Amino acid sequence: MSIQWFPGHMHLTRKAIGERVKEIDVVIEMLDARLPGSSANPLMAELTSGRPTLKVLNKQDMADPARTALWLAHYNALPNTQAIALDASNTAPARAIIDACYQLAPRRGGMVKPMRVLICGIPNVGKSTLINTLKGKRAAKTGDEAGVTRTESRIALADDFYLYDTPGMLWPRIVVPESGFNLAASGAVGKNAYDEQEVAYELLALLKADYPALLEARYKLGRAPDAYAQAHEEELIEAIGRQRGALAGGGKVNMQKAAELVIADFRGQHIGRITLETPEQFTHWLKAGLQADADRATRKQKLREDGHIRAERKPKTAKSAKPR
Ligand code: G4P
Repeated sequence: MSIQWFPGHMHLTRKAIGERVKEIDVVIEMLDARLPGSSANPLMAELTSGRPTLKVLNKQDMADPARTALWLAHYNALPNTQAIALDASNTAPARAIIDACYQLAPRRGGMVKPMRVLICGIPNVGKSTLINTLKGKRAAKTGDEAGVTRTESRIALADDFYLYDTPGMLWPRIVVPESGFNLAASGAVGKNAYDEQEVAYELLALLKADYPALLEARYKLGRAPDAYAQAHEEELIEAIGRQRGALAGGGKVNMQKAAELVIADFRGQHIGRITLETPEQFTHWLKAGLQADADRATRKQKLREDGHIRAERKPKTAKSAKPR
């Protein structure tokens, strides 16, 4: 899948995180509970120099609770890491977040050593919603500080607790193909960056394997769970399109419309509470993705050495990349 989704302002965000992190005690990484692994920035550990991290699995109301429990256990077992699941209906998330930050950085607190927390996440993960809830009546946005890049802002959650916000950020290259599809299905990337039919096929491949009963409840194709698992994705999309009246001329199914319908149903939670990946699956995808990436790099290097391709162009710097 060809994806163009790293506009200039994301270079700036990356730079801003790198600058700010030097004075940060805890990083809050907001993840989409429906795709925790895929919505985690693979550059995060490098960007945050291994700072203690609170993983917030947001939109838990849309995710499969059993899988959310798996992900929480997975992250809580990592060193220097805590994880909590949240959703927008939680109107008082501050206590859980503040407590977790103090557990991760117990020496901070008080006016002399205020807690300084950086919050990051991919676009659309619900960061603004959470920050607005956290702000409530008490906290005020203090705006940009002199000398600090304008791509972040500081919010005081208490007299000795500062939250530094950063714009939503994706990363330049997707090494795990499954992550590209899951991010696209979730709505994290712009519509022009992917092919809806491809994304709907991949989405259905996951759903028919893991959630066939939910598919039947939504689309009423009159099939047993096993029949879903055995059906080809194209056949399923066609059946769904026919059932839902997504038709083109001559009684044919409009596959594009049917694909858009399945994606919209997933995003709108009309199919049910779904999590597209388990920690085990994602670990497996990541391993395969990294291996394929390393193989690709080796092949490319060989081609370069043999004079079949030119030396790589210098990547654009943040200065030369124009914000969108
Ligand atoms: P961002 O700053 O990370 O880009 O995300 P933002 O808070 O703007 O949220 C993106 C969308 O996700 C919004 O929906 C928001 O309502 C929804 N959202 C945020 N948190 C949760 C949650 O915990 N559960 C659910 N189900 N949805 C959540 P939208 O349709 O883009 O806008 P809106 O019209 O609903 O505001």
